Amino acid sequence: MNQVVDFINLHRDRYIEELKTYLAIPSVSALPAHAADVRRAAEWTAEALRAAGIENATLIETPGNPMVYAEWMNAPGKPTILFYGHYDVQPVDPVNLWTSPPFEATIRDGEIYARGAADDKGQVFMHIKAVEAFLKNGGTLPVNMKFLVEGEEEVGSAHLDDFVRANKEKLAADVVVISDSPMFDRGIPSICYGLRGLAYFQIDVRGSKTDLHSGSFGGAVANPGFVLAQILSQMKDRSGRIKIPGFYDDVRELSEAERAEWKKLPFNETKYRRDLGAPRLFGESGYSTLERVWARPTFEVNGLLSGFTGEGAKTVLPATAMAKVSMRLVPDQDPQKVAELFEAYLKKVAPKTVEITLTRMHGGKPWMTEFDNTFVRAAGRAIERGFGKAPVFNREGGSIPVVSTFQQELGLPSVLFGVGLPDENAHAPDERLDLGNFHNGIIASAYLYDEIAQLS
Ligand code: BES
Ligand code: MN
Ligand code: MN
Repeated sequence: MNQVVDFINLHRDRYIEELKTYLAIPSVSALPAHAADVRRAAEWTAEALRAAGIENATLIETPGNPMVYAEWMNAPGKPTILFYGHYDVQPVDPVNLWTSPPFEATIRDGEIYARGAADDKGQVFMHIKAVEAFLKNGGTLPVNMKFLVEGEEEVGSAHLDDFVRANKEKLAADVVVISDSPMFDRGIPSICYGLRGLAYFQIDVRGSKTDLHSGSFGGAVANPGFVLAQILSQMKDRSGRIKIPGFYDDVRELSEAERAEWKKLPFNETKYRRDLGAPRLFGESGYSTLERVWARPTFEVNGLLSGFTGEGAKTVLPATAMAKVSMRLVPDQDPQKVAELFEAYLKKVAPKTVEITLTRMHGGKPWMTEFDNTFVRAAGRAIERGFGKAPVFNREGGSIPVVSTFQQELGLPSVLFGVGLPDENAHAPDERLDLGNFHNGIIASAYLYDEIAQLS
């Protein structure tokens, strides 16, 4: 291991230069105009795996964006790690709010700024470099490894579940390793043992065949913008509780033990609020902020559109109104079932004065694991060796839909060891990754493979 770690320390600057070229590829999966860039990022990922010494890296076509697959299976009798990550990134808008261009990685104060720096190219690259450090020093890995890096995570992993179900043999392993989440806080590495799920919808409201003069027709027909607001206002009560009947039926209550553990975490609510620039925090009553984000479901409006929004005033009755809404789900809620409950409730609260269309968009199941399994403990030791500090255990509010699929279809536990930071602006302008965490993450990843090897 010493040789491997020395190698990583020696090549620190080269890794950063290479990462810059990865981050320069605008692999935005949500925008069709970037299809060629997405493919280029897939090829770049495969080539980086080959350069690291895994020669069989290939692209696997799907009805959507290609997956990158590679394996190194030359450690007979040793455990097999299935590494999962994604090379696609979120759109960059509003692009004028970036301090430096999102696809020209720029280093300021020890952080590398670019779209994908933290989510997830930087963290995928960290593992590729850990593998390289082994294969360039003795030519072997201590474990068997399979890499699966997809290009549709940011748009709901539409083709991944089918791929996993159809390739159970190919993906057979002992444990999944993922680095696609933030650590608890700066200087506080963590292992994430729970993720929320997601159910996402578009609501379209139509009140008339065209926009209308609000003087000539106002008062005679319903206003879609107003109707949509009334519908949305019936989704939650004032205490933040969601009013969809049956919505909470499958919600697993937090145990007192888990609540007690979370109370011990060094969480400063005032600092959290100030960093967000929010006048007050708000959430479901009876739960702390961490509990609300990690263990309680939500109903959110992600976008709203109706009528005249330009400068000045225009007396108009909009013909339509639209909202994008989504619910974060927790164990043991099921996105399919929640979608049905929501649809039924929407039908009930919607007036007959307008036409309403509900479109189901992506979804994903929540995930949670016992954090006292041997792999998680091995990861704890690896993180301590890489970061000089034992990790805390946390859940996260975000979603990685495939994690529960790995559990259900392949029977695999996942270890979520992320090195991003909560304030590194994933999905937002000025996304960045701390280069110290990136570097320690490479070392911790190498130790992780070493620790998992010793479990056999
Ligand atoms: N890396 C995130 C997931 C994440 C975010 C985990 C925060 C832990 C904390 C991932 O890339 C992501 O953004 N997922 C989407 C999933 C959706 C598009 C189905 C999400 O959570 O919105
Ligand atoms: Mn991600
Ligand atoms: Mn993301």
